[in-house]
Amino acid sequence: MEPILEIRDLNTSFLTSSGEVQAVRGVSFKVEKGQTIGIVGESGSGKSVTSLSILKLLGSTGRIKSGSIRLHGEELIGKTRKEMRQIRGRRIAMIFQDPMTSLNPLIPVGEQVGEMIWAHDKSISKEERRARVLELFEMVRIPEPVKRLKSFPHEFSGGMRQRVMIAMALACKPELLIADEPTTALDASIQDQILKLMQQLQHEIDMSILFITHDLGVVAELCTHVLVMYGGLIMEEAGIDDIFERPMHPYTMGLLDSIPGLHQDKSQLLKPIPGSPPDMIHPPKGCPFAPRCSYACRVCLEELPPYRQVSERHRSMCWMLAPDAPSEGNPFKGIGSKGAVI
Ligand SMILES: Nc1ncnc2c1ncn2[C@@H]1O[C@H](COP(=O)(O)OP(=O)(O)OP(=O)(O)O)[C@@H](O)[C@H]1O
Ligand SMILES: [Mg+2]
Repeated sequence: MEPILEIRDLNTSFLTSSGEVQAVRGVSFKVEKGQTIGIVGESGSGKSVTSLSILKLLGSTGRIKSGSIRLHGEELIGKTRKEMRQIRGRRIAMIFQDPMTSLNPLIPVGEQVGEMIWAHDKSISKEERRARVLELFEMVRIPEPVKRLKSFPHEFSGGMRQRVMIAMALACKPELLIADEPTTALDASIQDQILKLMQQLQHEIDMSILFITHDLGVVAELCTHVLVMYGGLIMEEAGIDDIFERPMHPYTMGLLDSIPGLHQDKSQLLKPIPGSPPDMIHPPKGCPFAPRCSYACRVCLEELPPYRQVSERHRSMCWMLAPDAPSEGNPFKGIGSKGAVI
């Protein structure tokens, strides 16, 4: 089956006064129908830039240097701004961390969602539009939806505003929803409610989701597959069970160790990975995680490892997976040598 989205060897940079920031370096992945793909990684790993590249929302300094982004087989690289406007909202929708910045404070929310519907279908009557907004408010479980149509954004709580954003994103029945940390700014209990809502919507609507988060706990609840990013690269890709049960990258193992326990204060990390992320203006020639990795050998600092296929849809780039990797102290001893280079 043709994937909804297929990204191949994507490279995205920003021009800054200190030099070229190589934010995304050769990212490839697919999103198939009905899948929810999580992108996880620490701050600055390139998660948002990957998703903003898909929508071509990189601002004046950002540039896709090479690669291919296909939506249902149709190449998006090279599309004009006007063509991209047709794709954004209608075929790919996006929700962000802070809904307040995306809502107009002076216009009632019902009207804003209505405008979104109208922007993509000018033939729709006023009555039809109102009915559709109500239907969307009900879908995202906004209580007393008729009353709420006329409310302004500031009259909503953070969680309710995020529901409005989700309603807006769903207005044009997109094939793909990109959610970039949509619950990070919310209280823990509200976060859970929004995640539950997204789970329910997944079942109700036939829509694929690209879900960006730094929280592997959220990934466990929502995603079918995970991409683990670091230093602008995908370090590991795996199905949800494999990532938790058979992680094949020391960075993924570090992230798993840093998940807060179920009953711990969420702000307290269990065991953060020591060290800091790489300089993306002068990215290291070897594995970007090597300086922080307790398994790193000389080769790790010198050369980027190739991807190895560990099992179906499970790949990882780590020199410890090579057949000639040292067996002593190797976390993947005996497993890695089976993985073919891809
Ligand atoms: N407009 C920009 N100009 C210059 N550099 C940028 C710009 N946007 C992002 N970057 C850089 O690109 C890299 C990747 O950033 P990105 O926003 O994708 O990280 P992220 O994984 O989404 O992190 P976070 O979890 O903090 O949101 C970082 O080094 C960041 O500083
Ligand atoms: Mg981000």
